[in-house]
Amino acid sequence: MPAALQLLQDAEIQVTQWEESRDLSPEELIAACKEHDALLSFGANKMDKPFLNECRHLKVIALHSVGYDNIDVKEATRLNIPIGNTPGVLSSATADVAFLLMLSVSRRAFFMADKIRQGEWGAFSNNEYLGIELHGKTLGVFGLGKIGMEMARRCKAAYGMNIIYYNRSDNEEAERELNARKVPFEELLTQSDVISVHSNLSDETKNRFNKEAFYKMKASAIFINTARGGIHNETDLAEALNNKVIWGAGLDVTNPEPMAKENSLLKMSNVCVLPHIGSATYETREAMIKLAAENIIAGLMNKPLPHCVNPEIYQKYN
Ligand code: DGY
Repeated sequence: MPAALQLLQDAEIQVTQWEESRDLSPEELIAACKEHDALLSFGANKMDKPFLNECRHLKVIALHSVGYDNIDVKEATRLNIPIGNTPGVLSSATADVAFLLMLSVSRRAFFMADKIRQGEWGAFSNNEYLGIELHGKTLGVFGLGKIGMEMARRCKAAYGMNIIYYNRSDNEEAERELNARKVPFEELLTQSDVISVHSNLSDETKNRFNKEAFYKMKASAIFINTARGGIHNETDLAEALNNKVIWGAGLDVTNPEPMAKENSLLKMSNVCVLPHIGSATYETREAMIKLAAENIIAGLMNKPLPHCVNPEIYQKYN
């Protein structure tokens, strides 16, 4: 954080920081934005049509995330507000968490560690709480972009997993490097031993992993989501796990966030849940804030954002 603050100060930008450890209310956010020319957003604040119209004076909104599902990008584009994000720099860290969850679920690691904390490390049992091995299994990647590619690379290198993927466009790099094969959604569901979700949350992907989808998956399948909680239906997922329709699940994202401590998923031996820590390493957070600061500086200088979600606003005038 200090390095990015330094960047902003070097550019002679005055910075006001929200210091409280809670998100601003919509009214507070609008009031704060009215006194500023740019917004650097760390939270999950919804930036919808009313917000954007109230804050149409902003020269830039820089998100401290690669995801931008909390903002109405179409409306921002109509209002000529450039939106910045932080692509690329969090791919490795987020894929690490997907891989960590996959392995932890396959061996019920969180649940077993909890047993020790609760003083329940009992006598040796030959057939209790066994796990699933991953060697030579099939990884299905839902959304094979930069993060999905990093996850696929890890799975190929560690376990020689076969890679199949569902994407709008072909990923030639993955096909060349990993022998990955693009498949229809139905085939991703029926053929994968592990499904790892890495897509954006959009109208197209919202609730995509629902009861119907889980019922098509293998009974031995593991479902991993490190993208956005809205892509799976949590009630349907809990029901699928309870009814042994699929084998296990690992979530770094839930719906809603934070997940309630009473959530039944937290009690299941074959479920591992983390509190949205995909990008939470010193190195990645530093790289993200640097990109966000670069976006703020460019926006305030009326220059195109270097990492822009809606670059089409610059084409309007060309
Ligand atoms: C992102 O960058 O979108 C991560 O999920 C952190 O919010």
